[in-house]
Amino acid sequence: MTDTKFTPRVFSGIKPSGGLTLGNYLGAIKRFVDMQGGQFETIYCVVDLHAITVWQDPKELANATREVAAGYLASGIDPEKSILFNQAQVAEHAELGWIFNCVARVGWMNRMTQFKDKAGSGKDAEKASLGLYAYPSLMAADILLYHATHVPVGEDQKQHVELTRDIAKKFNHDFKVDFFPETTPVIEGPAMRVMNLRDGSKKMSKSGESDMERINMTDDADTISKKFKKAKTDPEPLPETLEGLADRPEARNLVNIYAALNDMTNEQVITEYAGAGWGRFKPALADLAVAKLAPISDDMKRLMNDPAEIDRLLGRGAERAREIAQPILKQTYEIVGLLRS
Ligand code: TRP
Repeated sequence: MTDTKFTPRVFSGIKPSGGLTLGNYLGAIKRFVDMQGGQFETIYCVVDLHAITVWQDPKELANATREVAAGYLASGIDPEKSILFNQAQVAEHAELGWIFNCVARVGWMNRMTQFKDKAGSGKDAEKASLGLYAYPSLMAADILLYHATHVPVGEDQKQHVELTRDIAKKFNHDFKVDFFPETTPVIEGPAMRVMNLRDGSKKMSKSGESDMERINMTDDADTISKKFKKAKTDPEPLPETLEGLADRPEARNLVNIYAALNDMTNEQVITEYAGAGWGRFKPALADLAVAKLAPISDDMKRLMNDPAEIDRLLGRGAERAREIAQPILKQTYEIVGLLRS
């Protein structure tokens, strides 16, 4: 259910912590590009304030922030059609985040599975930053600062968007207003989850020990090709039907990636490659991936050579973001009774 009194508006964000992978591209950025220029106003953010909930080297953080911006731009986020900026340049995120810290309940935070995963348990959890604990409330502020109605995210972020809805509802209820929308999460299918190329049971991550297990968005054509050709598989050829992939995580992952890169369904890929051996499928996948991804990585390199231009675009995006955020924050202060003379 979507509230009709709100402008259809999409907000999403990516953390600048380490490099971008094929998982970020297929699971997030490509979908963000597809939502551009349609029925939604689209706002895309590099969430640097979220990145520092765990330690980030200051020089690497600035660089990673530009790299995520370059990844967005190279993939087709148009800074005219969308608002593209980094969170730290719009102070209203932190201000609304504080108000939401006072709306959200400790009990709600204690149920957040991402915090438990990241903070660990026992003594480890005691060493987690307070920011990591409050992370979901800042995320709610990101979304609600723009009255965003839709948030495209991965399955792992669904709980955070549900918390955002709970915060909006409690705020509206406590202050007897109908001010914040109940945002709808737009969740990718499980098929969009890109897995590790060396172990199909693990998610492709930017931090895994071997570079061969992931495709970085900055990999060049030869590297992309080599990684797909060396990807782990089982010895069986591709099945005749989709059910045949059920217990074959590596095979399923490569079929998923092929389908996602080529805007096909998994069924269509299986129909085309029924019974094909890896000697046929892997080179086809490698060629497809190079055709789709190498131009993006080339463009990212070109953009990264001109950091001043990236900074200029992010600054301009931040200005446009503030035009939406400022009046919403102003009204929030008034609703809460915070005086600003
Ligand atoms: N928590 C999200 C992630 O880890 C990143 C994020 C921060 C985000 N703020 C957001 C995503 C607002 C969507 C909307 O992927």
